[in-house]
Amino acid sequence: MDESHLDLNRRSWDERTPLHVASPLYDLDSFVAGRSTLHPFEPAELGPVEGCTLLHLQCHLGTDTLSWARRGATVTGLDFSGASIEAATKLAAQCGLEATFVEANVYDAAEVLGETYDVVYTGLGALNWLNDVDAWADVVAHLVAPGGRFYLLEFHPLLFVLSDDDLVLDPTFSYFHDPAGITVEDPSDYADATVQLEERRTIEWAHTIGDVVTALIDAGLEIQMLREHDVIAFEPWPFLQRVDGEAALWRSPAGKAHVPLEYSLLATKPVR
Ligand SMILES: C[S@@+](CC[C@H](N)C(=O)[O-])C[C@H]1O[C@@H](n2cnc3c(N)ncnc32)[C@H](O)[C@@H]1O
Repeated sequence: MDESHLDLNRRSWDERTPLHVASPLYDLDSFVAGRSTLHPFEPAELGPVEGCTLLHLQCHLGTDTLSWARRGATVTGLDFSGASIEAATKLAAQCGLEATFVEANVYDAAEVLGETYDVVYTGLGALNWLNDVDAWADVVAHLVAPGGRFYLLEFHPLLFVLSDDDLVLDPTFSYFHDPAGITVEDPSDYADATVQLEERRTIEWAHTIGDVVTALIDAGLEIQMLREHDVIAFEPWPFLQRVDGEAALWRSPAGKAHVPLEYSLLATKPVR
């Protein structure tokens, strides 16, 4: 990854972190009180983590990392934003949970961490910050212990070609990966639409599901499950309907296109 892209995106995440810590979207008070940020289907799809070592790549504030810790995993979170790592470390202390948080570029994770994990996990909004999905898959495969599991939850790439106004295709976007990336100019933040960010430019990359699955297979992992979901963890369109239940999830209402909004994947590393 080009250093200037990395620096630009890191500055953006460092600036967003304190906003997220204070935001109603992340709602850290209820998190400290015991709320989980995992979707209900995540623990069911990944399976038990009690007694396992678990590495969360691109952990941001550590909410998902610590949600897995509450399920009995010994957790490590990694993120390239120093501000995020500081916030995650503080959050673990507030929750009274043991966790290790490490500041590093995901592409350097194997060298920096120097060990393997029973479970490697990555959550929503991670892959779009990475330019090279093949190199990422090699890192992931390296970090999973033989016999271990990799679990991913991501926004469905179809989301990135839908119009801002409706569940229809926007002809100005491409579904396919462009190595040059997409420069996004936006002073607002997903946790606060009114904020005026100083660092308003980011570079992001689209990765098709085919690219992600093929990269993981080429890296030596065996795909056990791939599911597309009709729910999403925020409201990109105001007409989405909140799903009943404790988790904050939304779904397309009757009369609107019913399309996949997130996907999840489980892979294992064979014992050679
Ligand atoms: C949308 S957040 C992930 C959010 C997480 N799923 C959650 O809900 O809190 C994306 C994270 O990726 C991190 N990130 C982006 N590029 C990275 C890189 N190259 N290496 C490590 N972390 C990176 C950012 O700092 C940010 O914390």
